[in-house]
Amino acid sequence: MGFDPEAMRAFERARWERAAGRYEASFATATRQFIPALLDAADVGDGAVGADHRVLDICCGPGFVAAAAASQGATATGVDFSQAMLVVARARHGALAFDQGDAEALPYPDASFDAAASNFGIHHVPHPVAALREAYRVLRPGGRLAFTIWAAPAENIAWKLLFDAIARHGDPSASDAPAPGGGFSTPAQCLAALGAPGFAAAETHIVRARWRHRDGAAMVAALQAGTARMAALIEAQDPAALPAIIADIERHAADWRDADGLAVPIAAIVATGRKP
Ligand SMILES: C[S@@+](CC[C@H](N)C(=O)[O-])C[C@H]1O[C@@H](n2cnc3c(N)ncnc32)[C@H](O)[C@@H]1O
Repeated sequence: MGFDPEAMRAFERARWERAAGRYEASFATATRQFIPALLDAADVGDGAVGADHRVLDICCGPGFVAAAAASQGATATGVDFSQAMLVVARARHGALAFDQGDAEALPYPDASFDAAASNFGIHHVPHPVAALREAYRVLRPGGRLAFTIWAAPAENIAWKLLFDAIARHGDPSASDAPAPGGGFSTPAQCLAALGAPGFAAAETHIVRARWRHRDGAAMVAALQAGTARMAALIEAQDPAALPAIIADIERHAADWRDADGLAVPIAAIVATGRKP
């Protein structure tokens, strides 16, 4: 099946509406670890900004980035297309502003923010470059954008464990998720995407962390509860194959087991650029 941007957008939206209530306790335990590096890259990380520093959290989900920016002194706004995510965000952070909107068509005037950040959002958008163009538009000249995406499975071991186990014991092609919009998973692709709207001083670096789980079954449950495309892949597996998939993960995760369970390496690309 070829790339259909509206099919991808509808799939993502339906999946995030469904995941919102369980996101914080599942996948957010991975994504939140990268917020300090993301805000550092957006020049919001040192507590030196004032309330006149307006920060936009794009694809905000439950608003963790917006809340972290506010705790640094900034005036933070979150935007997401999922109503259910916004319900969680508003309940968690009553003092912050959250708006419903698509990252490809932000509901803000030109030059309304001093910085923008997106934690694991941009690669869910059908046209990432269109989202970066919108971020560029709403930033004032001199404003900085930073975003994170997951590093390739070779470095992102939680993903590798799942994909390899499904390849050995399940069906990697079983998912009915619509085709993604094309490559947006390497530092070079991030730099090219940042260059398209005109971001200057574009840079990327890798940040590494550990994702803790009691065991392989708990890791699979977190991926199923709190993701979109990976949840669809897990749910598409024959239920009879799942025990072998989980046992395979357990075997191959042995290097990352300690007294408390698994501490699986995960890695993100942090990308940043400045509007001239
Ligand atoms: C992996 S979650 C990241 C949430 C949060 N930023 C975090 O740090 O955990 C991806 C988020 O992107 C949102 N999203 C996906 N596509 C979007 C789009 N086209 N426009 C706006 N939000 C989108 C989803 O609703 C979801 O909340």
